[in-house]
Amino acid sequence: MDKVYFGTNLKMYKNIQDTVSYLNELTELTKDLDRSKIELFVIPSYTSLPDAVKIENRSLVRLGAQNMGWEEQGQFTGEISPLMLNELGLDMVMIGHSERRHVFRETDQEENKKVLCAIQHHLDALLCIGETEEEKEYGLSDEVLRTQLIAGFHGITSAMAEQLLEGEPKIRVAYEPVWAIGVNGKPASVEYAEEKHRVIKACLVDLFGELGNRIPVLYGGSVNPQNAEPLIAQDSIDGLFVGRSAWNAGPFNTLIRSCLKRLSTEG
Ligand code: PGA
Repeated sequence: MDKVYFGTNLKMYKNIQDTVSYLNELTELTKDLDRSKIELFVIPSYTSLPDAVKIENRSLVRLGAQNMGWEEQGQFTGEISPLMLNELGLDMVMIGHSERRHVFRETDQEENKKVLCAIQHHLDALLCIGETEEEKEYGLSDEVLRTQLIAGFHGITSAMAEQLLEGEPKIRVAYEPVWAIGVNGKPASVEYAEEKHRVIKACLVDLFGELGNRIPVLYGGSVNPQNAEPLIAQDSIDGLFVGRSAWNAGPFNTLIRSCLKRLSTEG
């Protein structure tokens, strides 16, 4: 991969004012980092997005929504359509975060409709996948990851994949084991994360041929200042998708810089 990816999902935490101050601080702190080498993205709450897209250093951070309905308009009370996200000038949309799948019971079929809809509306799709603790204990992790990928990207033809993956990749994957996420999560070991990233990459090659290797695969789930560096140093981990450890701009900037330093010393 030519780039390293660092992103955060702000979940249902920061209000408009906090989001804007956070983005201003984060872009200021990281403005010297070459954006042809790193991508920085932030996924705020819906209500913060109209102000988030107006920040001064907008070109330094890619912005996305945490979810999206899969129809352009209609009788879908409470949903936000791709046209509404386009109207804001967003770059991306996160699809199938573990909390969407497990708290709100979204299915693989629904995530797939959202992925196809995002592509159609020129929003980069960040598909989140991950096995539960029980699936892991039953030895089903690889099958679950493959199922979520095959279902999530169903309907993307080779011709589409070629378009989506020429230049900046417009589909991405975040591997976030459900048992590793949030305050009660236990971070995956570096070895386990790398092993599952290999399974994911092999599946992406099964789906899209060599082009599959161009899809960035990010690790998420209790990334912290201690495990960030060894994780990013793994061959199959192209970036980090960070929750709690990224929600203050100073520590997130430090984490990013320590990862970049580690990568540069490893050559
Ligand atoms: P966490 O969140 O880093 O706080 O575990 C990760 C996520 O939900 O994306």
